[in-house]
Amino acid sequence: MNSFPENFLWGVSTSAYQVEGAAAEDGRGPSIWDTRCRLAGGVTDGSTGDVSADHYHRWPEDVRLMKDIGVKAYRFSVAWPRLLPRGRGAVNPAGLDFYDRLVDGLLEAGIQPWLTLYHWDLPQALDDLGGWTNRDCAGWYADYAALVARRYGDRVKHFATFNEFSVFTLFGYAIPWAAPGVTDRACHLKAIHHVNLAHGAGVDVLRALVPGASIGAIHNHQKVLPEHGKPEYQAAADLLDEHWNRAFPDPQILGHYSPRLAQDIEPYVQAGDMARICRPIDWFGLNHYGPIFARNDDKFVWGYGWGDSPPDSPSYGVGWPVFPEVFRDELITLSQRYRLPIYVTENGCGGNVDAPDAAGKVVDPHRITYLGLFVDAMGQAMDAGADVRGYFVWSLLDNFEWGSGYTQRFGLIYVDFATQQRIPKESAGWYRQLITTGRQPRCETA
Ligand code: FCB
Repeated sequence: MNSFPENFLWGVSTSAYQVEGAAAEDGRGPSIWDTRCRLAGGVTDGSTGDVSADHYHRWPEDVRLMKDIGVKAYRFSVAWPRLLPRGRGAVNPAGLDFYDRLVDGLLEAGIQPWLTLYHWDLPQALDDLGGWTNRDCAGWYADYAALVARRYGDRVKHFATFNEFSVFTLFGYAIPWAAPGVTDRACHLKAIHHVNLAHGAGVDVLRALVPGASIGAIHNHQKVLPEHGKPEYQAAADLLDEHWNRAFPDPQILGHYSPRLAQDIEPYVQAGDMARICRPIDWFGLNHYGPIFARNDDKFVWGYGWGDSPPDSPSYGVGWPVFPEVFRDELITLSQRYRLPIYVTENGCGGNVDAPDAAGKVVDPHRITYLGLFVDAMGQAMDAGADVRGYFVWSLLDNFEWGSGYTQRFGLIYVDFATQQRIPKESAGWYRQLITTGRQPRCETA
């Protein structure tokens, strides 16, 4: 692609628990991630999101920084326990006010707010009732969605029902790498189905309450390969593929579960459920970082585990294997399979090497290389007919990276967590040029 279309939507993403901090302030209730951070071994460096990047207080500066980069859209999530400290019932007015300020600030800066309803921070009080393993959770979610729609729907038009369904269901209920850390096949299957029901209910609520809403859902679609190409891991890769890539978009967009899952999940499906889940949406959100590898592993309840990536695969910073051509192919395949406009709602490069140099600059060539390769791959997919409308870098700011705590910095903007000073990295300048010209800076100088 010579240059991206003028109306292509360039944005940045964050999520509430990862950036806001102010965890116990202004009436916010605890979430399952507050709980997890306090469990021994829950987070690598023993840290929490209590303060994080303090976006709750520093959002005006963050909006200014976004404006300087020139982003057209900001994808953030609302913390359910900030609005409803116990997940349902009493509303917290101070929580509602916070997102009012943020949304108004964004609109004043000419930045479109893209609101994700759920980015993993379930109110702890609902987890105490079974969380996503409880079918009622779909109804609690729909009530929360209605609160959000009524309050912000006059100004916010872009909504995602959930972020990365398969990550928080698989790692929350089968492989214990995320909150709430349950390991049980039945709980995993129930969580999948109930989250799908919640998605469908959320779409209906948003459609009914927000005139002109543009509604999507965000999937972390990643090709699954058997570790080291070993045929004996193919069955593991196939099952992981069903849980990771197909458990959500297939029922939500095509109206059915994939064959093995349909069989496993049947005991939890009630008459009319598939129609409740499959509601018309406007776009497909894709979060993509690279392919994943599967192997047999009896330590985990499904008998599969995470395999190693090929030893010779390139990686930048974070150590994840970098395969831009897999991203290109995913965009083409997803565009054909689901026939929806695609927004790349996350892509980015982490690592623990970013630091200010003697002159106070943060130089991050690894991130520029990584992003450059993926932006190129996206252009190639568009040339090949994929209907891609926008791209959001993960992330605006360095932040709390879930189980990795503060050991992974993904931001275009460096955050000194001791002082909360923000320093735009070199990659922020690279992104500014890309947004301004529709081309990667190196094309400009070529
Ligand atoms: C994604 C998550 C996001 C962030 C990035 C690095 O899976 O959606 O919150 O942690 O990975």
